[in-house]
Amino acid sequence: AIRSVVRGVGAYLPARMLTNADLALMVDTSDEWIVQRTGIRTRHIAADNEVTSDLALAAARAALADAGLEPGDIDLIVLATSTPDNTFPATAVSVQAGLGITHGAAFDLQAVCSGFVFALATADNFLKSGAYKRCLVIGAETFSRILDWSDRTTCVLFGDGAGAMVLEAATDGADGRGVLTTHLRSDGRHKNKLYVDGGVSSTRSVGFLRMEGREVFRHAVGMITDVITDAFDATGESAQTIDWFVPHQANRRIIDASAVKLGIAPEKVVITVDQHGNTSAASIPLALAAAHADGRIKKGDLVLLEAMGGGFTWGSALIRW
Ligand code: ACO
Repeated sequence: AIRSVVRGVGAYLPARMLTNADLALMVDTSDEWIVQRTGIRTRHIAADNEVTSDLALAAARAALADAGLEPGDIDLIVLATSTPDNTFPATAVSVQAGLGITHGAAFDLQAVCSGFVFALATADNFLKSGAYKRCLVIGAETFSRILDWSDRTTCVLFGDGAGAMVLEAATDGADGRGVLTTHLRSDGRHKNKLYVDGGVSSTRSVGFLRMEGREVFRHAVGMITDVITDAFDATGESAQTIDWFVPHQANRRIIDASAVKLGIAPEKVVITVDQHGNTSAASIPLALAAAHADGRIKKGDLVLLEAMGGGFTWGSALIRW
């Protein structure tokens, strides 16, 4: 059987940073409120002339360098975003062109904050089927463009960034490495709890992010723990056998409550939300890249990913790194 093995990861964060103190000058909020409710201290914001594909391309180049591969080695690009450069074509084809790749396929996928896990599962299935050999899985967002900067209940929560992973089809036996299992879920009954109030077909405009924060919070931990239980049941792994828990970075309280409910030790939890805010589809590959770069995640480690977001969508993935 074919397995999708991680060859490398990379990240890109825009240079400009926006601290909680900066936000307190823009809306009626405080560093204390934001840190206590969310764990966020600062976030990165794209420059006016920087678009999602610029962030994605930089992350892709970093992931290729980490993998020791050339752009020509890639035959599939799956890019998760809710903030594409344009309505069409897909942001993925801009990344493809930026890398100088003219073979294979590139497309976008949209599952909001769960986008990276959905993209990873999609890529994994394409690689396992034998259709493609090496895939760039990218999460890239410029949520700063869809924030209502006068709404303190949402504008303090999000940031911009991109992360990328190179997955390679390898025949089984690669020391048991690779994507072991993925589990995806959606329930559109919740679609109005977290949404953007505009769009091509409804308003012919972009719109702003709107959220019932307490409702999202209320559902998050249960959905996250359910889909992780699916991953453990499918593999026989557990909170005890995983080495690292790399959750979607929406909110420190959601992450901590999920880890406690699952019995995952705090020292196994990778946290970047304090530095990045919620970067939606980019948050997991950004966190993976950080923990890989500083030597925490090593070859052979068992890494658990999880995300939950608008839709609602939610999902998990278990990877032997
Ligand atoms: N600064 C100061 N006060 C604020 C701010 C702010 N930025 N935002 C809201 N408040 C006020 C509210 O107006 C309210 O005031 P009131 O009591 O006078 O009406 C008070 O703080 C409490 O508001 P709540 O909404 O009840 O605050 P809560 O404790 O629920 O925290 C939060 C809000 C952080 C949004 C929380 O609900 C949450 O984390 N929800 C999860 C949402 C989330 O993480 N979404 C991310 C996207 S989804 C995803 O990625 C999974």
